[in-house]
Amino acid sequence: MRVIIEPNYEKLSQWAADYVVNKINAAKPTAEKPFVLGLPTGSSPIGMYKALVQAVKDGRVSFKNVVTFNMDEYVNLPEEHPESYHSFMAKNLFDHIDCPKENIHLLNGNAEDLAAECAHYEQMIQEAGGIDLFIGGIGPDGHIAFNEPGSSLTSRTRQKTLTTDTRVANSRFFGGDPESVPATALTVGVGTVMSAKEVLILCNGHNKSRALQAAIEGPVTQMWTISVLQMHEHGIIVCDEAACESITHGTYKYFKDIEKDNL
Ligand code: GLP
Repeated sequence: MRVIIEPNYEKLSQWAADYVVNKINAAKPTAEKPFVLGLPTGSSPIGMYKALVQAVKDGRVSFKNVVTFNMDEYVNLPEEHPESYHSFMAKNLFDHIDCPKENIHLLNGNAEDLAAECAHYEQMIQEAGGIDLFIGGIGPDGHIAFNEPGSSLTSRTRQKTLTTDTRVANSRFFGGDPESVPATALTVGVGTVMSAKEVLILCNGHNKSRALQAAIEGPVTQMWTISVLQMHEHGIIVCDEAACESITHGTYKYFKDIEKDNL
């Protein structure tokens, strides 16, 4: 696992965006062989999305031959709802870049048959050749996508019940009322993320410090689903100083040392 420690959120976001730009450009994607990107929502990736929009404007990258799959979506929330992940992605990324509509995939939380929707999503990922780079955030309880504590570490895309912790955390987007946060969501599984060729996790702020500690120093456990990243051949966490508060000084220093020549 690589752990990149950046001084602050802005630098972390720019590092992540540059990483994505370089990966896309290195792959030299074509319509026949597109670059396949897994994408998150939440407040963590907003800075990275801003930097990616700027990179497209500056002509440093194009999303013409990029295919995207988002991680998750609430169940029974209309797509037009301002807090749906469809709205979030349009507002923060897709409305401002050159990614063709047909290349963009988000789970439909209003599908009649949710199990079929999830199975079809997995099938589409496979047909696209698998995900080259899956980007994610972490919940304060260490969840990845909506794989709450206790989720199977080999799970695939399915419907999950959100924990009270997550509904409280996400209530800031729903007028402060946890009851207004949808009770369930469709989410890619931990196994879906782990099947990606590379996984990049964004982790910022003091309230993620326990999750970061569990991810890096704790055992692999279903109670902190992000910890499974320890089993991935190409897992990267990019974090800020504030998120490092719970890791030991030795761990902090180790990753700072081994990354200093890698920048
Ligand atoms: C939600 C999303 C996750 C995200 C997490 C953290 O629960 N389903 O994908 O990583 O929140 O969100 P934030 O980045 O806003 O802290």
